[in-house]
Amino acid sequence: MAKEILKLRKEHVNFKKLLDMLDAQLDLLRQAEDPDYQLMTDIIYYLIEYADTSHHPREEAIFSLLLERDPNLEQDVAEITRQHNTIAESGARFHEKLESIINGESEIMQLQEIEAPGRLCITTLRAHMDKEEKGLFMLAEQLLNNDDWKKINVKMRPKSDPLFSTNVDERFLSLCRQLGQAACKNTHDRK
Ligand SMILES: [Fe+2]
Ligand SMILES: [Fe+2]
Repeated sequence: MAKEILKLRKEHVNFKKLLDMLDAQLDLLRQAEDPDYQLMTDIIYYLIEYADTSHHPREEAIFSLLLERDPNLEQDVAEITRQHNTIAESGARFHEKLESIINGESEIMQLQEIEAPGRLCITTLRAHMDKEEKGLFMLAEQLLNNDDWKKINVKMRPKSDPLFSTNVDERFLSLCRQLGQAACKNTHDRK
């Protein structure tokens, strides 16, 4: 498997872990228990930030070369790229809601006002990843050659992952601990 696709697939596994955590928090909310709003904010912030600045641009670089190899994929690539924008927008909307709760700006918020944008983010992103894994990722492996991958690598150097790496960003230490990752087990004194 091309290492670029392997990395994207591994990132999907990480994203899915975070979406499961988010789902569980929204379940608490639905059961009238107290969810961890800070945890939800950290998750959605990571998903927006890392996906938007690293994961999606790398995918788009791969998909645009794929389109050169097979122009029939135009609609598929356009759809996936459109979804990247939708994901960013729905993530930003949900993040905004969570921030206003944390900052005490909207103490009286209806359950649906928080749950609906949250569930929408989760289902949209899950369906999107599924579509990529079963479609364009597989085609990229079949149709792109070594020179294509070199071009992609020159164009898109992945930036360091601020959560799933050995160098966890201060902002995500708490989330990293809740994920039980080895990288942050000994970092309690950093915060
Ligand atoms: Fe994507
Ligand atoms: Fe993806």
